[in-house]
Amino acid sequence: MIACYRNRGSTPHFLYKMQKLYEIPLLYDIAFRRPAVGYHVDGLIECHRRFRKDYQLERILELAAGPGRHSLEFAARNYKSAALDYAADMCRYASALAKQNSVPLDVYQANMRDFAIPHKYDLAMILLNSIGHLYTDDDLLKHLFAVWRHLNVNGLYVIEAHFPPWTNRDSLHAASWLLEMQELQMRVDFGRSDDQFDQDMHIRKVFVHIVGQLRGEPVDFQDYLTIRSWSGEALEHVIRESAAFEIVCKLGELNPDTEFKEHDAQRLVYVLRRLD
Ligand SMILES: C[S@@+](CC[C@H](N)C(=O)[O-])C[C@H]1O[C@@H](n2cnc3c(N)ncnc32)[C@H](O)[C@@H]1O
Repeated sequence: MIACYRNRGSTPHFLYKMQKLYEIPLLYDIAFRRPAVGYHVDGLIECHRRFRKDYQLERILELAAGPGRHSLEFAARNYKSAALDYAADMCRYASALAKQNSVPLDVYQANMRDFAIPHKYDLAMILLNSIGHLYTDDDLLKHLFAVWRHLNVNGLYVIEAHFPPWTNRDSLHAASWLLEMQELQMRVDFGRSDDQFDQDMHIRKVFVHIVGQLRGEPVDFQDYLTIRSWSGEALEHVIRESAAFEIVCKLGELNPDTEFKEHDAQRLVYVLRRLD
């Protein structure tokens, strides 16, 4: 059974038809909402303070931003904040959240592989392994050049990839979590051990299943997310080839005090600095 969300006045309604997860921002936002946005934003601001010392942080850009939870938090802290995503529904949703919260947020619908938007930024970021939506070295190279063009001198680019990367079928773990709040009970299953996996390209079709109920309406949604698993070696190879950025540091989370240590890292975070 496949379910999707459609606006009917202000009431979410789930009906049965094919739709992609990124076309249902409310469902994505509920199912994949991260609890520590404020902590991440503290960490990103601290990265800028430490690694771009002589410059003031004024403008930030979140790429593949989805609902834009991090860019919204920056906006709430009075930074000039922008979110870019290629899904029209996500862009509308992020703009609506900004309006609801009375914060200014520039939202751009564009493909992060190559884009041109107004302004240059001091700090750009791509979070929650959204870099996995770039599939080839060439995609990543083009993306790095596009980010480079939108950064101010010595501007930083923070890439948060997942860790450990998927290398073979044995590394394809599945995760499930429960969400229980007023008017909402859901189970989210992310990945199955039999997901399709291209071992040469490290691209997985991750099965996502969200089931439960929201405000009395049943939800039973299934989709596949196509994600490339970028290892540190693969990312570093393209970053070096671009000659557009230097790697300032490698972290285990979005916190400049957490050095990347292979045995206990949950994430692989690169802080890059624009080269001129
Ligand atoms: C995992 S969600 C990310 C959300 C956000 N980074 C977060 O932390 O919640 C991935 C987002 O990337 C967007 N996306 C996928 N491919 C993209 C592309 N080529 N250009 C821009 N956005 C893209 C999707 O529309 C989706 O909103």
